[in-house]
Amino acid sequence: MNADDQKQAAGAAAAALVEPGMKVGLGTGSTAVWFVRALAERRLERLRCVPTSEATAALARELGLPLAELDAVGTLDLTVDGADEVGPGLALIKGAGGALLREKLVWEASARCVCIADASKRVLRLGAFTLPVEVVPFGAKSTVNRICDVLSEFEIGALPRLRSREGVPVRTDGGNLLYDVACGRIDDPAALGAALKSLTGVVEHGLFLDLADEALIATDAGVERLTP
Ligand code: 5RP
Repeated sequence: MNADDQKQAAGAAAAALVEPGMKVGLGTGSTAVWFVRALAERRLERLRCVPTSEATAALARELGLPLAELDAVGTLDLTVDGADEVGPGLALIKGAGGALLREKLVWEASARCVCIADASKRVLRLGAFTLPVEVVPFGAKSTVNRICDVLSEFEIGALPRLRSREGVPVRTDGGNLLYDVACGRIDDPAALGAALKSLTGVVEHGLFLDLADEALIATDAGVERLTP
């Protein structure tokens, strides 16, 4: 099984958790795409789906899934989403797809959050994958200087790198900038997350801690279910 087959298997396993009438959060990224496709194939009645990005919204619309605004549904029964790293206790790094802010809002509104991933995403310690930090454009350089101060307090020497595509800074769905930090290792994710979040210009970061209720990790031997 290659990684894409595993993503498909994890997506299908998560789609089997959805029941008619549920309010469902739809994640973002290549693994979440498999979930959205598998969910649409089930043709369940009375679903209301809240997408975590414009990209997911477009796909769900194309597949005929009924969409709703987060504020219109209030709380969700289930959210299914991918991750860039799945660490001990189901601590996650997310945000390579740039949707971390909407993802976190949707996760926090959900009674049950299921992370889906291929086997390569499992790690013993977070930080090998870059950590995204979403920053408001106004005064971004000052905010980045303050992010560097926080990183050095945590003995992380890496400089935040502005995410860009073909030389143009990437903007999130909320119009903000993304800075990726190659931490290397994150020894205290909760403390680092809290320190980053305390900075005024930081909108959100990609550490998802104490949010995932379970993870469905696809391996060559089948889909493994992990709990915190
Ligand atoms: C998007 C995300 C994605 O869920 C995460 O990057 C995993 O993506 P993929 O399933 O493509 O590996 O957090 O913001």
